[in-house]
Amino acid sequence: MEQELDNLRTLAKEQLAAVTNSNQLEDFRIRFLGRKGQFSSIMKDLGQVPKEDKPRLGQMANSVKKEIEALYGEKQQALAPVAGGMVGDSDEIDLTLPGRRPQTGKLHPVTQIMNEVCSIFESLGFSVAEGPDVEHDHYNFEALNIPAHHPARDMHDTFYVSDSILLRTHTSPMQARIMEKQQPPLRVIAPGKVYRCDSDITHTPMFHQVEGFLVDRDVSFADLKGVLTIFTQKMFEKDLDLRFRPSFFPFTEPSAEVDIACVICDGAGCRVCKRTGWLEILGAGMIDPEVFKMVGYNPEVYSGFAFGLGIERIAMLKYGIDDIRLYYENDLRFLSQF
Ligand code: FA5
Repeated sequence: MEQELDNLRTLAKEQLAAVTNSNQLEDFRIRFLGRKGQFSSIMKDLGQVPKEDKPRLGQMANSVKKEIEALYGEKQQALAPVAGGMVGDSDEIDLTLPGRRPQTGKLHPVTQIMNEVCSIFESLGFSVAEGPDVEHDHYNFEALNIPAHHPARDMHDTFYVSDSILLRTHTSPMQARIMEKQQPPLRVIAPGKVYRCDSDITHTPMFHQVEGFLVDRDVSFADLKGVLTIFTQKMFEKDLDLRFRPSFFPFTEPSAEVDIACVICDGAGCRVCKRTGWLEILGAGMIDPEVFKMVGYNPEVYSGFAFGLGIERIAMLKYGIDDIRLYYENDLRFLSQF
């Protein structure tokens, strides 16, 4: 049997060296490695050899098989497909066949909307700033007039990394980060990811916001309304009703939540707008004098507005999507539509 295995190895090597195309390679595989091939038939005889020889012959058979398989693999690589055929297989290459179109990727719909939102604000003279997702408690809360134990912290469903480090719950920390470094006048947007322990058809645990703020002398709520009205007109390419609802944020006074007439049901009421006809897209207000004091601005001289926009909500309205979670299920059939 030893001799038989040796002969098989030599024969396989010789025959493989003569293989020049894929058909011959497949013949070789069937003859040597197939279920009814030469190697299998030798293995059947292994049952008949004396018990004491079995381990040694079994090992040898295994190593011969591995060697042939490795050589077969190398040959397969060497004959890898080129232009629809095999190297050395010139009669199988059909140069008239149309090429295969490579799959191209696309920007995620949320990224597309994010880019669109940023370019609208850039056209209104805002510059873009970016900051960290992993944030200090100080910037996320303290510098925004939300001290420890303030009830407003409960609204944020925060993911904490340690006692003083967290995943930012909004992009508002960028107000403090920019203002402590730069003097007014300021006109800045800060796009980015934010995180909250929250999930349903209009909430995801990771979502995107664009913070916007403008600080100068004599800035009023009318300026805020003007900027947001222009933004929605440009974004949705039509005059949509905006609704400013009085609200509370510790870092703005007065504060408002801004709703847009639900584009999915045209305001008639559906499951996305919870039958109200309106969908909340952002929080906004006039920057609180306390925030100005903390960054060293004189609130007697300067005033400003700020807003924080939910990008996924805009994407839902723009594309008529009624469940925000679809954006993050990575289903290409859904994503490739945009
Ligand atoms: C804030 O985050 C404030 N920082 C906004 C702000 C900035 C107010 C500047 C004043 C001045 P709010 O928690 O309401 O506010 O979130 C803002 C927007 O983010 C919401 O209107 C909504 O569009 C979106 N949003 C909130 N939570 C989620 C979530 N879990 N998933 C998707 N979008 C969300």
